[in-house]
Amino acid sequence: MSAESEKALPFAQLTTPYSKLAGDDMFLEAAVQWGTWSILVLWVAGASMATELSRPCPQRCECHQETMEVNCSRRQLSAVPEGLSGDSLHLNLGHNRLKTLGRRQFAGLALLQELDLSNNMISMIEVEAFQGLQSLQTLRIKSNRLKIIPVGVFSGLPRLRALDISQNEILVFLDYTFRELVNLQQLEAGENDLVFISQRAFTGLQNLQELNLDRCNLTSIPTVALSQLQNLTRMRLRRLNISVLPSNSFHQLHRLRDLRISHWSSLDTLASKSLIGLNLTSLTINNCNLSTVPYASVHTLVFLRYLDLSYNPITAVHGNLLADLLRLEEFHLAGGSLVTIEPGAFKGLAYLRLLNMSSNQLPTLEEGVLHSVGNLETLRLDRNPLACDCRLLWVVRRRLRLDFDGHQPSCTAPDVVCGREFRDFTEAELSGFFTCRQARILNRKPQDVRVEEGGRVLLHCMADGDPSPSITWMTSQHALLLPTGRVRVLTNGTLELRYAQVQDSGSYLCTASNTAGNDSFSVSLQVSGLPHSRNRTVPHFSEMVWTVPSIITVTNSSAQVSDPFPFDAKTLIIAMTMGFLSFLSSVIICFVFMFLWSQSQGQIKHTATINFVPRTSKGGGAGGGDGNDSGRFTMKLI
Ligand SMILES: *[C@@H]1O[C@H](CO)[C@@H](O)[C@H](O)[C@H]1NC(C)=O
Ligand SMILES: *[C@@H]1O[C@H](CO)[C@@H](O)[C@H](O)[C@H]1NC(C)=O
Ligand SMILES: *[C@@H]1O[C@H](CO)[C@@H](O)[C@H](O)[C@H]1NC(C)=O
Ligand SMILES: *[C@@H]1O[C@H](CO)[C@@H](O)[C@H](O)[C@H]1NC(C)=O
Ligand SMILES: *[C@@H]1O[C@H](CO)[C@@H](O)[C@H](O)[C@H]1NC(C)=O
Ligand SMILES: *[C@@H]1O[C@H](CO)[C@@H](O)[C@H](O)[C@H]1NC(C)=O
Ligand SMILES: *[C@@H]1O[C@H](CO)[C@@H](O)[C@H](O)[C@H]1NC(C)=O
Ligand SMILES: *[C@@H]1O[C@H](CO)[C@@H](O)[C@H](O)[C@H]1NC(C)=O
Ligand SMILES: *[C@@H]1O[C@H](CO)[C@@H](O)[C@H](O)[C@H]1NC(C)=O
Repeated sequence: MSAESEKALPFAQLTTPYSKLAGDDMFLEAAVQWGTWSILVLWVAGASMATELSRPCPQRCECHQETMEVNCSRRQLSAVPEGLSGDSLHLNLGHNRLKTLGRRQFAGLALLQELDLSNNMISMIEVEAFQGLQSLQTLRIKSNRLKIIPVGVFSGLPRLRALDISQNEILVFLDYTFRELVNLQQLEAGENDLVFISQRAFTGLQNLQELNLDRCNLTSIPTVALSQLQNLTRMRLRRLNISVLPSNSFHQLHRLRDLRISHWSSLDTLASKSLIGLNLTSLTINNCNLSTVPYASVHTLVFLRYLDLSYNPITAVHGNLLADLLRLEEFHLAGGSLVTIEPGAFKGLAYLRLLNMSSNQLPTLEEGVLHSVGNLETLRLDRNPLACDCRLLWVVRRRLRLDFDGHQPSCTAPDVVCGREFRDFTEAELSGFFTCRQARILNRKPQDVRVEEGGRVLLHCMADGDPSPSITWMTSQHALLLPTGRVRVLTNGTLELRYAQVQDSGSYLCTASNTAGNDSFSVSLQVSGLPHSRNRTVPHFSEMVWTVPSIITVTNSSAQVSDPFPFDAKTLIIAMTMGFLSFLSSVIICFVFMFLWSQSQGQIKHTATINFVPRTSKGGGAGGGDGNDSGRFTMKLI
């Protein structure tokens, strides 16, 4: 037993008869008896005790005179103890067995500032239970069994600043639940079974600054209810099961500065206007299911200084799309699936001083992603499969100045330096490692390729370099060729032309480039036309989807496409089927009309003309979808 409790016990004795102690251990009883005698002695001896006598302490509680604290924690109480001193400032009733709180349960504790009812079994709080606690600033009812909070429970708490009702089983917040808590600044409401927050639930919380709603069963953002919180500056929404953050989710929260959305495992979409109306300085959307940086949603947040998108399956940060966040200082995207950070990704972010890219799939981070290297102070690049070539030279050169937050980046490639941490490289080694080799095209023998119309041709372009170069192909009109279409660039860099056409003739330029430089090489192609169109190989139907000449769409050349076959097979079959059915029904309708006519008029018309115009809805229907009108045709049946 501590010195404090020995001092406290005598006061317990004065307010409770001996019989109440039955069942407690003998030691306690002995102590109490000793206490009685000592009190009597003190009673006689000291006048100062008179004041202390007016400050009773409930049985089984500890009362600390200096702090005016009554500690009844873990005393197996099933009711709020009686005999609480009216001048107590702090009352701890946590970890007991309280089940209900009646009306005016704490009357007479007008000076109480802090009341802790956490970890009980409270399932019912009567209206006005806290009436009279006019000085109360902090109320904790965390971890109980509340299912509902009747309106009026929190009346008579004009000074309350912090309220914790988390870890209960509350299902709904009714209108006006918190109405009288005009000075409440912090509300912890998380880890309940909340399925609904009524539109006026937060009415009256005019000074609320911080709201935490973790792990609820809400299926949508309570936008209207939140819009009442005009002074909210911080909000945390954790573990909600929402997959789309819709437009205007947080409108009218003009003072909100810090928004944390985390562990919404199904959140994969932010509407482009979802954050509109907010003026945040700190935004966290981590541990969600976003696959791209929500550029459109965040671009209005021009005062943003902190952005955390960690633990989302984001694969790339694209160039020049974050430039509006001109005050950004910290960007965290740790634990993502990043493979590339494009050049210019952080262009315009002149104040960026922390970049946290730990635990991604990045092979490199080029200097060109940053606006200015000089402002970067902290860089996390560890746990990435880094290729230690010239692209990372800027980092390794600053390895002593940059703060790696205790996690040195290390090389994964090339093999000779695999596993080495950046700080292990000596200055002399840097010129040997961290090098690049300019891209160089191999087999540079002049290529002069001839092919007949309708044929297939492959133009090879092989290159080496370190890092391995990327290969692009261009036409003589400088149009970039794509990996799809009739003329396409294969993944190994070879250019493939199918169903060669005369106008495909010309030169094609292959360019191999890597960070160290580029190399290019030109191939000329001659497609010879056939004298007799009869000899032309008509491709099989299944291949006809490619007959739209992609090279012609890309180069926008005015060349006439001499396509022998204006429609593809599908279009023809549909048109014919439709034509036949319409024809049949038209004929039947006509005959019915003629029959009715003959019945009523007694006259028979001997000729009938049927005009029929079938139209397919899909135009040409060809795979290229270039919008030519070749699918339409007119048929006239007489
Ligand atoms: C209150 O009492 C409990 C249980 O005896 C003890 O663990 C806790 O530290 C006490 N709190 C204070 C502030 O003395
Ligand atoms: C809330 O969600 C949890 C976990 O998904 C579930 O166990 C609980 O039954 C839900 N409660 C209600 C009221 O839907
Ligand atoms: C996350 O998104 C992927 C597809 O983008 C989907 O397959 C997966 O189920 C989603 N995860 C969750 C928890 O919704
Ligand atoms: C947005 O927030 C910043 C910093 O908190 C503040 O300086 C600025 O005035 C705010 N802008 C508006 C429109 O509220
Ligand atoms: C980087 O992100 C990781 C994972 O979120 C975190 O643990 C670490 O503290 C962050 N580093 C810095 C410097 O903020
Ligand atoms: C590239 O791949 C295609 C088919 O996938 C093949 O025909 C061609 O020969 C390859 N090119 C080279 C240079 O190996
Ligand atoms: C190739 O390098 C030259 C300068 O060496 C540069 O002007 C040109 O833009 C580069 N081309 C490509 C496709 O990278
Ligand atoms: C045209 O077709 C005939 C047989 O069908 C063939 O003998 C002849 O070589 C073809 N001509 C050309 C130019 O391909
Ligand atoms: C293609 O040519 C048409 C006019 O012939 C022009 O209006 C259009 O802008 C051109 N498209 C491109 C991509 O050059």
